[in-house]
Parts: sequence; C-alpha cells; structure tokens
Amino acid sequence: MEITNPRLSPIQSGRGQIQKIEKFIESKLDSLNWQHTLEVRNIALKLARLEKADKDIVEAAALFHDIGKIKGDDNHTPRSEEIARKYLESESFNQNFIEEVVYCIAVHEYHWIGKANLIKTIEAQVLADADTIQKLSPWGIIKHSIKYQEDFNKSYEEGIKKLWEKLMKCYNLILTKSGQKEAEKGYKFVKDFFKDLL
Ligand SMILES: [Fe+2]
Ligand SMILES: [Fe+2]
Repeated sequence: MEITNPRLSPIQSGRGQIQKIEKFIESKLDSLNWQHTLEVRNIALKLARLEKADKDIVEAAALFHDIGKIKGDDNHTPRSEEIARKYLESESFNQNFIEEVVYCIAVHEYHWIGKANLIKTIEAQVLADADTIQKLSPWGIIKHSIKYQEDFNKSYEEGIKKLWEKLMKCYNLILTKSGQKEAEKGYKFVKDFFKDLL
C-alpha cells in the first residue's frame, strides 16, 4: 500500500485493522483491563475529535496503552511500548505512525510523576487525559477498589481514603481544555459517590 501522507496510517484503509488489533489485545488482557481499555478508547476518540488530534494515532495508542499489564501492573509502560511496536511493525504500519503511537504510550503516565510538561503531542495529551478521566467513573471506582484490595483488607476506612485521594488527584492532572470539561462530570459523580462514605 502506498502511503503519500506521512500521517496516513493503514488504519485509514478500513476498520479491519482496528478489529484485528482489538482481537489481539482482548486475547492478552484480563477482562478488567480490557474493559478499562475500551472505555479509555471511547473517551480518547471523543477528545481527539474536540482537540483535532489524529484519530488513528489516538485510537491505536489507546488500545495498546496498557497491554503491558499482561505481566502485572508494575512498570507496564515499557512492555506496552514494546508490544505495540512489535505488533505494528509486523503489520507493516507506517514508521512515522508507529513512532507517534509508541510515544503516546511511553508518556501516558508522566502527569502522575510531575512530568506533564513532557507530554508534548496533542495525541499523547488526549490519551493521558482519557486514561485519567476513565478513573472518574463507576468503572474507575470498581477498578481501583480491586487495586486497593489489600488496603481495604487491612482497614475499610483506609481503603476508602486511599481510593478517594487517588481519584481526587485526577482532576488536577487533566491537560486539555476538552478533557477538563469532560472530567467535570466524573469529578462530580465521584464526589457524590463518596459523600456518605468519608
Ligand atoms: Fe497505564
Ligand atoms: Fe490505562
């Protein structure tokens, strides 16, 4: 396939490529992380539209961003980068497209460690925002309750406190204007949810 525009990716040739990626990722992730991935993809596509980001880069990056969790949560990002690169290269995706996708994945948690200024492209910002916004939802509460299971086991109050603090941090970590708007709904939902729990 001839690619004249360096931003053009084989994804634009049809949904077949995306369905293949979906199948690949669904087969690797547990259902909790797969559900998270699907929700991040939906939010990311909405933000991509609003922020005029490249939708194909955002979609592929969202689908691959947590695939490294097949071997556990810790340090999953380098594994996600590696798996995404390997997969996209084996499917002969445009090299420029691959670099953009891998970059989005590489920096998708930089805002959590004080490096938000290093999330440079709009596509990477959109992915980081979608990943953060997804936490401010019923599903985000379920996922983090499971993540903090040990804290809950030790003390219910401690578990609730940890969960609340983590989710409340999200709101200040949003990078894009559209993301801030989108996060407001989730922020309100989480605050209401915790109202009687704290
Ligand atoms: Fe992640
Ligand atoms: Fe994620």
